[in-house]
Amino acid sequence: MMHNVLITGGSGYLGGTLLARLPAANLSLNIFALVRNDSQAEAVKQYRATPITFDISDASAVRDAVVNNRITVVYYLVDAINSDAQVSFIKALAEVEEATGQDVHFLHTTGAKMFSSHTGMPNDRPLLDTDPSLYDLAKSRLGSIKPLVLNQAVKTNCTVIDEGDKYGVRTYILVPCIVYGKGEGFGNTISIQTVDIVKAAKAVGKVHKVDDGSPSWPVCHVIDNTNLYINLLRNILSGSGPGYGKNGYYLASSGSVVWNDLYSAMAVGLAKRNVIQDSTVSTRADAVTIEKMAVALGVPPEFVPVQVGGNCTFTAENGKKLGWKPQFESGHILEAADEEVEWILKHRK
Ligand SMILES: NC(=O)c1ccc[n+]([C@@H]2O[C@H](COP(=O)([O-])OP(=O)(O)OC[C@H]3O[C@@H](n4cnc5c(N)ncnc54)[C@H](OP(=O)(O)O)[C@@H]3O)[C@@H](O)[C@H]2O)c1
Repeated sequence: MMHNVLITGGSGYLGGTLLARLPAANLSLNIFALVRNDSQAEAVKQYRATPITFDISDASAVRDAVVNNRITVVYYLVDAINSDAQVSFIKALAEVEEATGQDVHFLHTTGAKMFSSHTGMPNDRPLLDTDPSLYDLAKSRLGSIKPLVLNQAVKTNCTVIDEGDKYGVRTYILVPCIVYGKGEGFGNTISIQTVDIVKAAKAVGKVHKVDDGSPSWPVCHVIDNTNLYINLLRNILSGSGPGYGKNGYYLASSGSVVWNDLYSAMAVGLAKRNVIQDSTVSTRADAVTIEKMAVALGVPPEFVPVQVGGNCTFTAENGKKLGWKPQFESGHILEAADEEVEWILKHRK
């Protein structure tokens, strides 16, 4: 049966690359794209997507958009923190299932921070995305996570799963990590963490560590990240029954990178282009430097290490069960750091 798939965040880095690559996946589906203005509406048509505009904070608008267009799959790539819109989508999908008898699916996008030292998740051993205790681990952390915004984001992941269970909607928690590489969409084509390393370095004239020791973080090329999103959809549409709910965590990552190695590789690219004078990476930033980095990143000082540091041992296993295999090994990010710096400097607003 034909599925109607809604992509949100299609003008963004991850959603844009997904929208650009989905037509070539040869799946039996109609693509709808949430847009917020006329130029976005025009742009998504090149991917054979039907543009629709509605306010995701308005539950009845979400309901109408999903039910009237008989949407059965929603890719949510807009906001990892709050949960109100996700709940509206899940309720609306349940109505479509009721009316059509078709399975309905909600694919929420969170981030690796929610499975890291920043949220107090285990990070002294590999934490597999197939670990059956992930939901309980996350739930047990609620109330003790600082900064509060991460507490909210962890809660949102649990809420998506709980609401999916309640309304009979299959939910999946997709977990991008440090994603890098040229975005292929029509809108934003640069990522988050690598961009923040550039912004912070520009502000203080050097790349600084924000942690002691050698913490590491999972990485993924944007094409591999996108392929996991598509592979999951392929498995959903074929009826192979990919894990969902408490068994539906999917990290997109080919392995980890030590932050210090990433800082060094990017510092070389920045110094080469005279953005900073010195390609050596400084020891852990002091309070004054962190203040300046925070201003550049537009976050409170205590959030700087959250943006560009921390330890995360989350490990991708679930996607492999779907036949997903990353093309780019984790070390590729270091080889590609020079190109990443170039791309960021060219496209940063
Ligand atoms: N990139 C990464 O490395 C990474 C890693 C982990 C997690 N994530 C998470 O993945 C999600 C997507 O990331 P991204 O890098 O693709 O971000 P992005 O490039 O900033 O794109 C965000 C998208 O969300 C849309 N959007 C924002 N608020 C909206 C609203 N109220 N209604 C409708 N659309 C709205 C934006 O539309 P406009 O263009 O109209 O503003 C844009 O299309 C985010 O939640 C992010 O936190 C990303």
